[in-house]
Amino acid sequence: MFKTLSSKLAAALLGLLCLIGALYSALTFYGSELYQQEVNQKLNWKLAAHLVSEKTLMLEDKVNQGALDELFKMLMVINPNIEIYLLNTEGKILACSVPAEQLQRKQVTLAPLREFMSGQGRAPILGDDPRDVRARKIFSVSPVPVEGATQGYLYVVLGGQAYDSIAQMLQGSHILRMGAWALVASLVLTLLAGLLLFRSLTRRLTRLAASMESFQRADLRDEPSAAMPLARGDEIDRLGASFNQMAVRIKQQMDTLKETDKLRRELVANVSHDLRTPLASLQGYLETLLLKEGKLSAEEQRQYLEIACKHSERLGKLVEELFELAKLDSSATPVQMEPFALDDLAQDVAQKFQLAARNKGVALEVICPQRLPLVCADIGLMERVLANLIENALRYTPAGGRVTLDLSHEQGAVSVRVRDTGCGIPQEDLPHVFERFYRVEKTRQEHAGGAGLGLAIAKRILDLHGSRISVDSVLNRGSRSTFSLPAHNVMKS
Ligand SMILES: Nc1ncnc2c1ncn2[C@@H]1O[C@H](COP(=O)(O)OP(=O)(O)OP(=O)(O)O)[C@@H](O)[C@H]1O
Ligand SMILES: [Mg+2]
Repeated sequence: MFKTLSSKLAAALLGLLCLIGALYSALTFYGSELYQQEVNQKLNWKLAAHLVSEKTLMLEDKVNQGALDELFKMLMVINPNIEIYLLNTEGKILACSVPAEQLQRKQVTLAPLREFMSGQGRAPILGDDPRDVRARKIFSVSPVPVEGATQGYLYVVLGGQAYDSIAQMLQGSHILRMGAWALVASLVLTLLAGLLLFRSLTRRLTRLAASMESFQRADLRDEPSAAMPLARGDEIDRLGASFNQMAVRIKQQMDTLKETDKLRRELVANVSHDLRTPLASLQGYLETLLLKEGKLSAEEQRQYLEIACKHSERLGKLVEELFELAKLDSSATPVQMEPFALDDLAQDVAQKFQLAARNKGVALEVICPQRLPLVCADIGLMERVLANLIENALRYTPAGGRVTLDLSHEQGAVSVRVRDTGCGIPQEDLPHVFERFYRVEKTRQEHAGGAGLGLAIAKRILDLHGSRISVDSVLNRGSRSTFSLPAHNVMKS
């Protein structure tokens, strides 16, 4: 029944208000009765004393019936609610203003009367009602002296209205009735205000819950529908903002997961394709050699074996590159940072390619115009980056061209530029050259290049060093790959 938060809150508020209403009514009922009795008794405090001083009610030890009757008659006229009793010193009723057959008590307890006369008691003091054994009423009392000695008491019962229930009391008092209406009205108003407040508070929660549900229903794919406010507001706003951030993060992660999954699939497809092609040719040549054993000239045999050897080299390189990328991805081998001179490393790597360059008719040189600071990086991995870049430059530069490594110190970093005067990379391919297995189709045909993993490996290595690599190129004029490493604050000695 109470499924929503607002209905639960409303029910709790209603219960609370009913309780407050009941408590308040009970307090008013008993309080006002007591108050009425107190006021009544205080107003008539001296009534008995006045009456006693007015008339001689007792003569010797006898009741002065004449004076009493006069007194009864007079009071009946003034206030018929008042009952007068003449008591002896033990509290026994000697005479009374009410018909004798209505009396249910013959004697009145004296203790409250003494408390009254001592002047110490606090109103309302309640005494016995001779007409009702169970009832206790307010009174006024005064000793009746005969020749200086107390011979009895004049006990005046101040018959106030006694109510049995709140309803009865309300019927009896216009003011209380108004008060009760005011109470009911204020409780209803409080209830309405509370309900409105709960609604406004829970409305935002409901919206948030709906937004969460729809996000969940859409398999965490869509952006959360309800725009939640910034995290500056109250708890609900903060909750909404956190949910928004969480949803955006989940979505991003889902996208990344999907992207990675797509890449992985492509990778598997590419790997199997790239493995299959050289393997098939390798197998083809070896089979031919086997089939035509003895029928081939030495020259032909050598040629076939050379081709087979090239394919197996290619296969070996591909497997090695894949293994290297997997290692870099898994971070199984941590990057071992150490300070070293990048220009020395560049010279070493260039040296290794010098022979290949000369064979191809391409000039390869390292230019380093200034003294460079050391850099802090993994030497083995940096060697790999330089080798990959030089290898590309040489591979895609025709004879007569030039490959240059420029090293410079700029803004606290050592930059390396590998320039070539080769075929260049078309603009539309530039953003993709760092993707795994990406090869520009044209160069691929012409040069039967590698697997398309070299730049991906270089990029991954520089990523691990917190650095970036970029390539720019002009078609048929040449390309330039650039990266930089932060300088270690020690100069080379
Ligand atoms: N200096 C360059 N000049 C022209 N094209 C380049 C150059 N460097 C890279 N490319 C193009 O970018 C592609 C990706 O280069 P990458 O080094 O990743 O692969 P690859 O050299 O083909 O193969 P691998 O390096 O795995 O042997 C190359 O196939 C080539 O098309
Ligand atoms: Mg390459």
